[in-house]
Amino acid sequence: MVKHDPNRTRSKKSVKMSLPSENPVLAVFEILARGQLVSQGIFIVAKLRIPDYLSDGGKSVDELANITKTNPNALYRLLRMLASVGIFRETTKVGAGLEQDEQNTVRRFDLTPAASLLLSETTNSVREFALLFGLDSFNRATTNLLHAIETGENSFKYANGLDLFEYFKQKQNKTEAEVFDNAMNCLNLSYVSTIFTLYDFSQFKTILDIGGGEGVFLSTILKKNPNQLGILFDMPKVIRRAKKKYWTSAAKPLYDHDNSLYSRCKLVKGNFFKTIPTGADCNIIKNVILNWDDESAALILKNCLHAMKMTSLTNLYRPGTQRSHPKLLIIETIMPEGNAPFFGKFTDILMLILTRGGRLRTEAELIKLLNSCGFDIVSITKPPDNVSFLSIVEAIPSEEQG
Ligand SMILES: C[S@@+](CC[C@H](N)C(=O)[O-])C[C@H]1O[C@@H](n2cnc3c(N)ncnc32)[C@H](O)[C@@H]1O
Repeated sequence: MVKHDPNRTRSKKSVKMSLPSENPVLAVFEILARGQLVSQGIFIVAKLRIPDYLSDGGKSVDELANITKTNPNALYRLLRMLASVGIFRETTKVGAGLEQDEQNTVRRFDLTPAASLLLSETTNSVREFALLFGLDSFNRATTNLLHAIETGENSFKYANGLDLFEYFKQKQNKTEAEVFDNAMNCLNLSYVSTIFTLYDFSQFKTILDIGGGEGVFLSTILKKNPNQLGILFDMPKVIRRAKKKYWTSAAKPLYDHDNSLYSRCKLVKGNFFKTIPTGADCNIIKNVILNWDDESAALILKNCLHAMKMTSLTNLYRPGTQRSHPKLLIIETIMPEGNAPFFGKFTDILMLILTRGGRLRTEAELIKLLNSCGFDIVSITKPPDNVSFLSIVEAIPSEEQG
């Protein structure tokens, strides 16, 4: 057998760059341990709301363990591990007097900028996303990645008996479905300001968000443009939850209270594999196409094309209405070519694990898919640093160009 020297590879530079330690054995060990333990550790402190308890200043481990009903020594070890990767800062005082352990030491921790992102009420909070990584169904799916690799099929269904969105439809999985929706909301809030720097949504009269979840993204657009109308379209259960949570004047206000927001947006229940609402000049499909195989994605796009054509026709025959071509905006991550580090490569594996044939597509793959469904590409706007993850592909029905 030929012995493989891990330092002698085709691309020595990229291996060196991506390993945390100079010792290859330790480096691989650290990658293994970090992947599983840091992820679970972040989930646990988010679930226990430890960042919230530190928001008004550092606390001792004993205090934190008391509040969260955990074992002080085990909690200390978890916080110490997380502090080693920049989440929390240990401010332990030796010989401080109170709450001493055998070395006369008070173990204390403080928030760091990274830990602050796990606060429950903060801009850019990732707490809800961290909770997703602790769901039993999610973890059963990730630990069965081998099944996905062997078969190409999603391990979520293999491990949980149903496809992701079918699973969330079940009454008994309501709590998990809420965690998923909250995670999507928290992602939306974290990048919405970047999207507004990339694209001008004020040009449109009516915005339709297809598979728009609970409508947090749509609400931010409507909020910025007080004369715009909105249509939020998703599965019945999601729309019911959205309505109860956000879309009535009595519900939790979406950002600053704006009563007109509720009257400007129609909530539509449905199935994008059957039909998509008409009437919008801006048709957004955000973080949806990556959830599906080419065949299913094409069905969504063709239904969207049909809705857009019907909208064009209606506008054509409506007296006094200027003919405006509805636009389609696909907003999702485009997979770059090559092996450079890119966050989307993790999202892509999550799609393999969680969805039926979903994946991140390269620019060429996305263009090919859109063209095959009867769309022409007008523009592709990529995030400026190419690190943040969403691009905007603007498309129109083929025969409407020119
Ligand atoms: C990954 S989430 C993206 C949500 C939102 N667009 C965002 O960017 O946060 C996919 C969305 O598609 C919705 N969805 C899945 N299957 C659907 C269907 N057959 N018809 C309508 N919506 C569906 C889900 O309920 C979910 O809200």
